[in-house]
Amino acid sequence: MDRIRVPVIAVDGPTASGKGTVAQRVAQQLGWHYLDSGALYRLAALSALRSNTPLSDQQRIAALAAALPCNFNGAAVRLSGVDVTDAIRAEEIGNAASKIAALPAVRQALIGLQLGFRQAPGLVADGRDMGTVIFPGASLKIFLTASVEVRAQRRYKQLIDKGFSANITDLLRDLNERDARDAQRTTAPLKPAEDACLLDTSDLSVDQAVSQVLRWYAQRSD
Ligand code: CDP
Repeated sequence: MDRIRVPVIAVDGPTASGKGTVAQRVAQQLGWHYLDSGALYRLAALSALRSNTPLSDQQRIAALAAALPCNFNGAAVRLSGVDVTDAIRAEEIGNAASKIAALPAVRQALIGLQLGFRQAPGLVADGRDMGTVIFPGASLKIFLTASVEVRAQRRYKQLIDKGFSANITDLLRDLNERDARDAQRTTAPLKPAEDACLLDTSDLSVDQAVSQVLRWYAQRSD
């Protein structure tokens, strides 16, 4: 199938809103591919930190991002052949990812890699700018949110489950900082696409959120 005709569901939203879990489940249910675009920013950040590249060095980080030796296999992510599935989930890497994500040359360098995930029979893409910049023609655009308290709890549980230490006060501060940085940057700021469906998951289970997305998709493709 012509790549441009492959259907895309874009799931954007702020940090720890649960969009990754929901997007992955929607992809599974539809039998579609899944793009975790945040993982690409996290991989670029990890590469920068491991090579002692200053996070403000736009050109060097863009060069790292353009040639990321990464490989995705289900939920597993490798960088230069080494499993970094858990390493990229550290809060320090998330914060570094959010800093380098504000650099236009870094965003530009990751576009081709993201477009490459659009493969038949379909793609569920999760991030900040999936519906606004990367896949503006997506069949369905979701902007998934939750209250900052619910998001801090979700991130806390996610980190503890992965064996990282965490505390709610620090996480609330990180979330607020990250939201502000992602929403205020000039290139591809975090904001709902004009034609996005807003989904507040503060009081929804994962199953309820997934069902809502699937219902919206079924309505769109009727
Ligand atoms: O897991 P969490 O929602 O905190 O973050 P993520 O989706 O893994 O993304 C990490 C960081 O990458 C975010 O804080 C954003 O600054 C950046 N990002 C972005 O700018 N654009 C995307 N499409 C995806 C992530």
